[in-house]
Amino acid sequence: MIIDGKKEAQIIRSEIKKEILILKKKTNKIPSLTVILIGDYVPSQIYVKNKEKSAREVGIHSKIIKYPKNVSEKEVLKKIDELNNNMDISGILVQLPLPDQVSKEKIINAIHPSKDVDGFNPVNVGRLSSGYKSIIPCTPLGCLLLIKKIEPDLSGRRAVIIGRSNLNGKPMAQLLLKENCTVTVAHSKTNNLQNECLKADILIAAAGVPNLVKESWIKKDAIVIDVGINKVGEKIVGDVNFEELKDKAKAITPVPGGVGPMTIACLLKNTLECFKARLT
Ligand code: GUN
Repeated sequence: MIIDGKKEAQIIRSEIKKEILILKKKTNKIPSLTVILIGDYVPSQIYVKNKEKSAREVGIHSKIIKYPKNVSEKEVLKKIDELNNNMDISGILVQLPLPDQVSKEKIINAIHPSKDVDGFNPVNVGRLSSGYKSIIPCTPLGCLLLIKKIEPDLSGRRAVIIGRSNLNGKPMAQLLLKENCTVTVAHSKTNNLQNECLKADILIAAAGVPNLVKESWIKKDAIVIDVGINKVGEKIVGDVNFEELKDKAKAITPVPGGVGPMTIACLLKNTLECFKARLT
């Protein structure tokens, strides 16, 4: 079975749109998302544009603040402080990667945890790993929602994640632990990666290596989620060799059209959650 991320994302977006309309009638307010984009890295420009367009479509007020690539860290921190203190702003997102002179750590720490729609602030990371209610990073949340569509009860399942990034691998592991999976986090230094992957009932590939996972790496009827977005020539491919795996897996996400649309839908979901938390 091929998992249709576009369709699932559409369902989430229409639910968000409905809820925003109801809240607007009740409170006369709508959620608002500000995205900060630094520099001229083309993929970031495309992602940010897509985020803004999707936000607008569901009724979230959305604004992009652009800075040139030589902007000072101080100026960005000042803007974040201003946005933190602006009660009309529900969510703040600073698109990564950042230029060298702007510290990712300082920027992520500066965004108020209650407006941190990415879920990257250490307060939210800590809350997630402690099992408390928190803002969950958009891509792992999107992956989990897709997995649970296939298998609502994940208790006791063996999950293997390839990749240990703060954006994907680590929060994915926390989410699957919370679902009572037995979780392995593999990475570039893992010995015999194929052997680890063969144990997986659920395999999440977030390594950033094109076509890394081959047919001989998965168990029959595993659920395979491909987080990779890799440019090979003019083509975008995932971390999984889709053609090889599609008949062996119980369910698999394509690239594009799998995890990608879910990431944006979950960003809108997080923005709505931040807005609602501010209302109460
Ligand atoms: N760059 C690539 N993915 C992401 C993401 O999920 N959030 C932010 N802020 N930047 C990114």
